[in-house]
Amino acid sequence: MTAPSMPGALRLGVNVDHVATLRNARGTSYPDPVRAALMAEAAGADGITAHLREDRRHIVDDDIARLMAALSGPLNLEMAATSEMRDIALQHRPHAICLVPERRAERTTEGGLDVAGDVARLRDFIAPLTAAGCRVSLFIGHEPAQIEAAAEAGAAVVELHTGAYCDLHAEGRAQARDAELAALRAGAARAAALGLEVHAGHGLTFDSVGPVAAIPEVAELNIGHFLIGEAVFRGLAGAIDEMRARIESARAGLAGGRSYA
Ligand code: PXP
Repeated sequence: MTAPSMPGALRLGVNVDHVATLRNARGTSYPDPVRAALMAEAAGADGITAHLREDRRHIVDDDIARLMAALSGPLNLEMAATSEMRDIALQHRPHAICLVPERRAERTTEGGLDVAGDVARLRDFIAPLTAAGCRVSLFIGHEPAQIEAAAEAGAAVVELHTGAYCDLHAEGRAQARDAELAALRAGAARAAALGLEVHAGHGLTFDSVGPVAAIPEVAELNIGHFLIGEAVFRGLAGAIDEMRARIESARAGLAGGRSYA
């Protein structure tokens, strides 16, 4: 792959949901995701992401209030496009809101939003959030129809779903992985051409982050599960440091993209 031409800085958003997962597994008050978020900020995270799921299996309402009060940087609140979540978002007015699909039985956010099939409703949903000062992002796949619909719906940002790419990477299916990466690249270029800011995330690890970080239009990566898991072994600051180093190396065209055609 050719090195990106003069890519801008790439922000790292750290998702602290899985600190809450661990806390919730025992019904204790620890480990505290707010403490993790403050550590992540101190370790150089550019923002904190948290997903208030309808079933509250990760972050709970009080965590959002505490994050808003404690953080010095931006909070990116992930949520479903429901009226309950919109009321909560309007109450807290986080810097950013990322709308994600939610099916209660899934282990995580498995696919992107179907924006193309829901443009009118999403436009009405997004407008008051934008008017309240929140940057609204839509978590979508790289299909051109979804990207174009996101622009039509009035989103400021799209977050491209990297889950399929990460799965193919982990399974060692190089050809399919490279095809997925090419589609992500094309999607990022299409979104940027439509005036959308481009973010990416889901499933990223030390090994898979480079080629995504090297997509020049990508302005922000949101990473959670791997970083929180890796923190068990090297501490949260150590995990963030290493992720940041890999991102920056890829961004500079030094390493991350080289092994891919
Ligand atoms: N971005 C979005 C929109 C997500 O829903 C998630 C998962 O909560 C992530 C990024 C982070 O994914 P992971 O925890 O796999 O790094």
